[in-house]
Amino acid sequence: MFLVISSSLHPTSRSRILARAAVEQLQQTGREATLFDLVIKNLPACDGASAYADANVKELADLIHQAEAVLVASPVYNYDVNAALKNAVELTGRAWTGKVVSLMLAAGGQGSYMSAMGLANSLMLDFRCLIVPRFIYATGDAFEGDGLADEEIQQRVTTLVSETTKLADAVNRSH
Ligand SMILES: Cc1cc2nc3c(=O)[nH]c(=O)nc-3n(C[C@H](O)[C@H](O)[C@H](O)COP(=O)(O)O)c2cc1C
Repeated sequence: MFLVISSSLHPTSRSRILARAAVEQLQQTGREATLFDLVIKNLPACDGASAYADANVKELADLIHQAEAVLVASPVYNYDVNAALKNAVELTGRAWTGKVVSLMLAAGGQGSYMSAMGLANSLMLDFRCLIVPRFIYATGDAFEGDGLADEEIQQRVTTLVSETTKLADAVNRSH
C-alpha cells in the first residue's frame, strides 16, 4: 500500500489536488493507494505526551508503518512545509523509519522551491528515510479549478509516482 498524505487545511487546497492526482496515478498503475487528508482527520497538537494516544494519530502511524512508500503533499508556508505536516511527523515519529518518501509542494511563487529541505533533512537524519530525489513544486498556473491545468503537470505527477514505486520496490525487496 502506498500512503498519500495531504497536509493542507485549506478548503480548496491546491496541494490536495496533487495528492489526489498521485492517488489516481498509483491506482492506474495497479498499486493500492490510501489518502490520509489532515483536513478530514484532525490531529491534536503534539505535546510529547497524551497526544500520541489519539485515535487519528494511531491510525496515521499504523498507515505510515505499513506503507511501501509515503507521498506527501503540502502547502509552502513561510519557506517550509505547513505546521500541520510538521505536527503530523512529530506525532508519528518512528513510524517513518526507513521509508521511501516523496514530496509535492504547492506554493504561491517560484522563489520558495527549496522549502521541502527542512522536512527532507529531518526525515533523512532522524528516521533514515530515503527521499526520492525528484520533487513536485507547483504554483498557481499548474492548476485549473479543482484539477491539474495541463498535461505537463500531469506528466510530473506520473514521473514522481513512477520513480517512487521503482525505488520502493527496490528497497522493500531487499528487506
Ligand atoms: C501562512 C502562509 C504562508 C505562505 N508562505 C509562502 C512562502 O513562503 N512561499 C510561497 O511561495 N508561498 C507561500 N504561501 C502561499 C501558499 O504556498 C499557496 O497559497 C499554496 O497554494 C498553499 O497550498 P494549498 O493551496 O495546498 O493550501 C503562503 C501562504 C500562507 C497562507
